[in-house]
Amino acid sequence: MLKNILDELVLVYLKELSFVKSKLQKENLNILKHLEFVVKELEKLKHQLEIIEIKSETKPVVSYLSQISLENKADDYKKVIKNLKELSGKLFWRYGYQEPSQEMIGKYAYTEVIGPEGPIYSEEMIIGFVLLAPGFYYPKHKHSQIEESYLFLNAKTLYNNAILEKGSFILNETGKIHELRSAAENPALILYSWRKQGGGSLKNYQLNLE
Ligand SMILES: [Fe+2]
Repeated sequence: MLKNILDELVLVYLKELSFVKSKLQKENLNILKHLEFVVKELEKLKHQLEIIEIKSETKPVVSYLSQISLENKADDYKKVIKNLKELSGKLFWRYGYQEPSQEMIGKYAYTEVIGPEGPIYSEEMIIGFVLLAPGFYYPKHKHSQIEESYLFLNAKTLYNNAILEKGSFILNETGKIHELRSAAENPALILYSWRKQGGGSLKNYQLNLE
């Protein structure tokens, strides 16, 4: 199952990379570099897959995964979402905050699929999913030393006052403040990738959301 999701992630990021390359402008350069890094790391993992044991833990928001429809045959992200649904009970869903608010506890969680804590081991990259229940506001935050991308997989989502369509790809450069709000009528599923600013190990990196 992990091999399947890895194969799908390679396809998703390769497609994004070729899209960005096809309309390359100056402001896309950092996005291009980020995507090239992600694709290179994913290709490495395909050839040298290391799986580590993780504990699984669910969170209330995970029940909203079933509301994300897979009916549209032409959907680019259908397979990756299907793989996530199948895997979700085996993953470790977290809040990332020591004292999450009540709203967060009910309406938000993220899970890593690739990273130093597994289940697919990588020291220099983290790839995971963020899930927001309908109408959830994810407060402003930034990440020091981390470059983060978001790919909106299923629905319109409000990101820093802009309504982003499904399929939008965003790069949060190190230190950039960002916030999210899911639409009132659907949950929002977001694929994210992280790399350390300038490259390097993410081992023991503490998620300090400010
Ligand atoms: Fe973030």
